[in-house]
Amino acid sequence: MELVETGIVGLDNILSGGIPKGRTILVSGPAGAGKSTFGLQFLYHGIVAGGESGIFISFDEHPAHVREECKNFGWNLSELEKDNLLVLIDGFSPRAGVSSSEKYQTPVDVDELITQLVEIIDKTSAERVVIDSITALALSMESEQQIRKQILKLSAVMSSLECTTILTSEMRGGVVSRFGVEEFMSQGVIVLNYEFQNNVATRSLNIRKMRGLKHEMVERPFEITSTGVKVYSEEQFYF
Ligand SMILES: Nc1ncnc2c1ncn2[C@@H]1O[C@H](COP(=O)(O)OP(=O)(O)OP(=O)(O)O)[C@@H](O)[C@H]1O
Ligand SMILES: [Mg+2]
Repeated sequence: MELVETGIVGLDNILSGGIPKGRTILVSGPAGAGKSTFGLQFLYHGIVAGGESGIFISFDEHPAHVREECKNFGWNLSELEKDNLLVLIDGFSPRAGVSSSEKYQTPVDVDELITQLVEIIDKTSAERVVIDSITALALSMESEQQIRKQILKLSAVMSSLECTTILTSEMRGGVVSRFGVEEFMSQGVIVLNYEFQNNVATRSLNIRKMRGLKHEMVERPFEITSTGVKVYSEEQFYF
């Protein structure tokens, strides 16, 4: 199985190299866990280290804010966008019902999104896609059955185009996916935890599943630093 580096420091060691190429991975966590940062670091690393272009679909935040926040990590997204190495799709403004001057916009609709992704991938040869978040997309769907069908379709199309895809997922009360099906529809699940212990917030991560790969079953601490997400792959985390 071919693996692609996530670019998340420490995580690639845990995963013996990275995540399976062309598969769909769910990155799940509570508010502020680091899901968007994780996704953007995955894209940024793919572009600067691997020459793999990427697409970021932002449903939860305005792309202008995403660009701004990334500057704090030293990631200049606008530059990559200018060079057609990165495409930022605004799913936020249509969802919020406000106008947008972004070049790429998408309504909250899987079929429409798939059509757009296929076109952009054809143009830019993107090999990495991040949908932030699948929770926002799934909120527009009517039933559990539809969520299953649509995520499966998205995942199958991305896989046929050999695109490695990360779906971020909102986690509440320790439940990995909001609708209870997202985790079954993805080939891997990485859980980002964020808890208070003795009045100190601590971040930790575990690999819930990674189909076809042997992976460790240990909770590892991580930090968000000025250069992004950093996992301490040698240290264990005890609850
Ligand atoms: N430059 C930075 N240096 C260190 N930590 C940062 C920096 N920027 C953000 N953070 C931390 O990262 C957190 C936000 O991470 P991120 O937006 O990736 O989380 P998220 O899981 O996507 O959140 P949400 O559920 O709200 O979308 C902030 O709350 C802050 O603790
Ligand atoms: Mg986010």
